[in-house]
Amino acid sequence: MRTFQQILPLRTYLRGVREEGKTVGFVPTMGALHEGHLALFRRARTECDVVVVSIFVNPTQFGPGEDFHTYPRDLNRDLQLASNEEVDALFHPSVEEMYPAGFQTWVEVPELAATLEGSLRPGHFRGVATVVTKLLNIVQPDVAFFGQKDYQQFLVIDRMVRDLNLTCRIAVVPTVREADGLAMSSRNVYLSPEERRAATVLFRALRRAEELVQSGVARADEVARQLEALIDAEPLATREYVALVHPETLQPVHSLATGVTLVALAVRIGRTRLIDNAFIAPPGATA
Ligand code: PAF
Repeated sequence: MRTFQQILPLRTYLRGVREEGKTVGFVPTMGALHEGHLALFRRARTECDVVVVSIFVNPTQFGPGEDFHTYPRDLNRDLQLASNEEVDALFHPSVEEMYPAGFQTWVEVPELAATLEGSLRPGHFRGVATVVTKLLNIVQPDVAFFGQKDYQQFLVIDRMVRDLNLTCRIAVVPTVREADGLAMSSRNVYLSPEERRAATVLFRALRRAEELVQSGVARADEVARQLEALIDAEPLATREYVALVHPETLQPVHSLATGVTLVALAVRIGRTRLIDNAFIAPPGATA
């Protein structure tokens, strides 16, 4: 595996790759790699000749008081994991390389970023959209891969790529879960053993949503009420939102009878903020 900290040598390497007529798959990450990331690398490998991964804890997508400084970082472990997956090139730039003095250009996707995560983390998607635009311009991949756990992030980036006529395709890969359903996340390492057990409440809520819609409950507010009660019954959990929204616009839906709905959750377990989501559909339709 080739590793790069600077943009210019990475660009030179990628020029060579393209001159050989090879396709490039790109997986942007913030490191602290887990099985969810590895699934993205493997999917990229099935679709593209060369797999490029970035590891960059992007300061501009963290708000004041969020976990930028404590975000888990273990570059040596990440390099080993990526190299075991036969990643071809790993880019781990410094903050100065990505945001040199004088930096002042931002990318915003205001409507899709206004709801859910965006409403609680102002500026988060501006930071994500900006850094992903920069990374896509640097790597110029054929396909870039994102996890479904951050579904709103996928939608924001997909919209941005189309609006800005970037040439790559955006692919979304299903969430990888622990045996008890907890979605893989770099932030799971913050959980104490007791919190780790409580954290299954997100998956339990998503499963309940699926059961309710399958049993014929069609009112979104009824499903939301039941999920809220389920989450509130978990003593270590503090609910931030339970949202039933249209999977393309992220606008609230009232009836679940008409098609596929996205159930999106944000819950604090102790001090750790976790998100998860699932698609649900009424009997006879497929989510
Ligand atoms: O999902 C992430 O890890 C980050 O938001 C991303 C896409 C790498 C941008 O910093």
